[in-house]
Amino acid sequence: DGDVYKYYADGEWKKSSSGKSVSIINPTTRKTQYKVQACSQEEVNKVMDLAKSAQKSWAKTPLWKRAELLHKAAAILKEHKAPIAECLVKEIAKPAKDAVTEVVRSGDLVSYCAEEGVRILGEGKFLVSDSFPGNERTKYCLTSKIPLGVILAVPPFNYPVNLSVSKIAPALIAGNSIVLKPPTQGAVSALHMVHCFHLAGFPKGLINCITGKGSEIGDFLTMHPGVNCISFTGGDTGIAISKKAGMIPLQMELGGKDACIVLEDADLDLVAANIIKGGFSYSGQRCTAIKVVLVMESVADALVEKVKAKVAKLSVGPPENDCDITPVVSESSANFIEGLVKDAKEKGATFCQEYKREGNLIWPLLLDNVRPDMRIAWEEPFGPVLPVIRINSVEEGIHHCNASNFGLQGCVFTKDVNKAIMISDAMETGSVQINSAPARGPDHFPFQGIKDSGIGSQGITNSINMMTKVKTTVINLP
Ligand code: G3P
Repeated sequence: DGDVYKYYADGEWKKSSSGKSVSIINPTTRKTQYKVQACSQEEVNKVMDLAKSAQKSWAKTPLWKRAELLHKAAAILKEHKAPIAECLVKEIAKPAKDAVTEVVRSGDLVSYCAEEGVRILGEGKFLVSDSFPGNERTKYCLTSKIPLGVILAVPPFNYPVNLSVSKIAPALIAGNSIVLKPPTQGAVSALHMVHCFHLAGFPKGLINCITGKGSEIGDFLTMHPGVNCISFTGGDTGIAISKKAGMIPLQMELGGKDACIVLEDADLDLVAANIIKGGFSYSGQRCTAIKVVLVMESVADALVEKVKAKVAKLSVGPPENDCDITPVVSESSANFIEGLVKDAKEKGATFCQEYKREGNLIWPLLLDNVRPDMRIAWEEPFGPVLPVIRINSVEEGIHHCNASNFGLQGCVFTKDVNKAIMISDAMETGSVQINSAPARGPDHFPFQGIKDSGIGSQGITNSINMMTKVKTTVINLP
């Protein structure tokens, strides 16, 4: 059974006593690429105990030492970029260059987090009592930030490394321990990343990585009494988790239906370039992908022509060849995307290209004249299919954006900065990009969704703060 990747607990690589494994299907070949351990609930219990006791001593480890270890892990992660990127290519069909970028970005995130943590956790507050009515200056209040305990980190398939470290690094610098449950597609990339933290020499039990079937250990993990905070990125599962989780802080980033509003005065070449980047990079499998274009009718023909010309130039094929469009993560995902395309076809959308699919590979598709009765006007394809809705006023665009149950990001293209800011204020989303496609990064920017797009705010500083709690000590003078 040597070809099943082991899980990581207590500073060691272990086989599950369940004797079972989970297969990871390569999206391109649609054959089993790797296998990981199917951990049991009993193993989850053990890991929670280990994480709890490791956290207690880690919280007493000096901040500068925690930062030093994180810097070390960041350097090792970058050294290992080639083998980790190879896993990303095989497990999630991420184009080869983007896979390397993900690992390097992750190393940078870990280092930045160490630096930011040293700064923000190195400071506390000092308050005096006589500012509040009825008090003399007899009480001095000291505040500092203390860790929450065990953080359960649940990243999605589309960034198994980056969206793991965006949870792990803030948790660790703040003195928490980690139980990581990687997605099945992406689990081996995540295990390699964990190996880098192992090599850096973190204490045993501080970082643990449990693999297995969501149906067996998913709820058990998220409802476990040993968990003090959940940081989750993914889809609808997050809504279910938020209903079941106990009285603990939740950080969640779920889906998005990011709108791209294009005004009449926009630089259409800039818009077209951003629609390609925002709508089609990693084949549209990003929460922050542009998922609907809302363009003023008077410039719609010109914009659609420009985008069509660029779509024709996208390379389509295997991630190993660094193609722009690669197979989507699973057959069920491809079937879902196809369902949206068929619905749009039946309801009369204009197909700018012919719909084409081979296995999990779907050719990029721009759908013009999409109307609100079509599913694709509202649902997230998480694939290389982009709807264009023609609008007759800015208000119509804002209204469509705000009628969505999602509210992650959005973007607006115009040369009129006053209009852009007014539209940004009117859009009910966590972020608005002016004259660029939506994106989470740079990774220290605050990143948040409203409505069904999430709870709380991320970005390095916000994540560190979220994974701590204020502790006060009051000195009472005689
Ligand atoms: O889909 C995950 C979300 O966090 C997107 O990140 O970097 O592609 O904007 P990014």
